[in-house]
Amino acid sequence: MTTRSELFRKPHRPDIQNCVEALLEGHLVAFPTETVYGLGGNASDPLPVTRIFETKGRPADHPLIVHLAEASHCGMWGRDIRDYAWQLATAFWPGAMTLIVSAAQDVNALVTGGQDTVGLRVPSHPIAQELLALFVEQGGYGVAAPSANRFGRVSPTSAQAVRSELGSYLKSGDLVIDGGDCEIGLESTIIDCTGDLPAIARPGAITHDMIRDVTGLNPVPFQQKIRVSGGLPSHYAPRAKVYLEGRPQPGDGFIAMSSHPTPRGVMRLLDAADPSHYARDLYGALRKADDLGLNTVFALPPEGGGIAVAIRDRLSRASAAQ
Ligand code: TXA
Ligand code: MG
Repeated sequence: MTTRSELFRKPHRPDIQNCVEALLEGHLVAFPTETVYGLGGNASDPLPVTRIFETKGRPADHPLIVHLAEASHCGMWGRDIRDYAWQLATAFWPGAMTLIVSAAQDVNALVTGGQDTVGLRVPSHPIAQELLALFVEQGGYGVAAPSANRFGRVSPTSAQAVRSELGSYLKSGDLVIDGGDCEIGLESTIIDCTGDLPAIARPGAITHDMIRDVTGLNPVPFQQKIRVSGGLPSHYAPRAKVYLEGRPQPGDGFIAMSSHPTPRGVMRLLDAADPSHYARDLYGALRKADDLGLNTVFALPPEGGGIAVAIRDRLSRASAAQ
């Protein structure tokens, strides 16, 4: 019998059932998605939502993404959803995409950060899917979940990383589901769907061209009329200082594609054959730099489109940290 406080591996239905009960009782449940781990709470209950902010140390005016079991539940959270948003939902959900739409009237201001919009996502990870489906089956509507890290820090891509980020902030009754390493490793693409044209607020695995191909619309630059904490110049940062230019010195950490040889005396933290491996392993590499107590990390981001755009976005924010 799995206990509430236990970190468990290979969850099966009764374990997920435990998690659903915990959510409905107002506890927090960290769970895997295909992008990063989320710190989940019942989005309809102000108490767990407040605890999410406390646990992360996140400012209250930064909105949360509501995770849904399926696209047809969007109507419970959003209103006046545009046709192109439905096209995106049909094409890319379940998946690594968050849509920002006008919020339905009764959505709690704690979730929206007091804005009139709400972020919605249907993740594809089988554990997330099962958790959300059971949650709805038992009376829930949606699970608010930011990345399960302290505010401004590197998102966790393993249950172990969740523990090291939040272990001392979680309370009795909270749970962490171990679903292994996240497949994508970078947070979802956030698309603002409140305007006539889609706008990419945060790049991710669903790319500009994919959005254009599905909607026939060219995504426009995102106007920062809404708050996106991942949109802050400094975010996704390890304790080590991250440099994207210059020369690594002996003893520094080094992150690059396999095609770049390891400079003499530096500690190789990532050795990716292609950009998707780079994305998958990047946050683990930044975490490793901190575990090793490195002061400095040099990262050479991959070039080109696709997921490389998101990698460059995250690394430039990581390097902007003081
Ligand atoms: O991949 C992901 O998106 C992960 C997994 C757990 O789903 N979640 C995630 O959540 O990265 P979070 O809170 O760490 O980042 C979501 C970003 C935040 O910067 C937040 O400000 C923004 O989305 N956001 C959420 N709702 C919004 C809204 N209504 N308007 C503007 N920005 C919003
Ligand atoms: Mg985050």
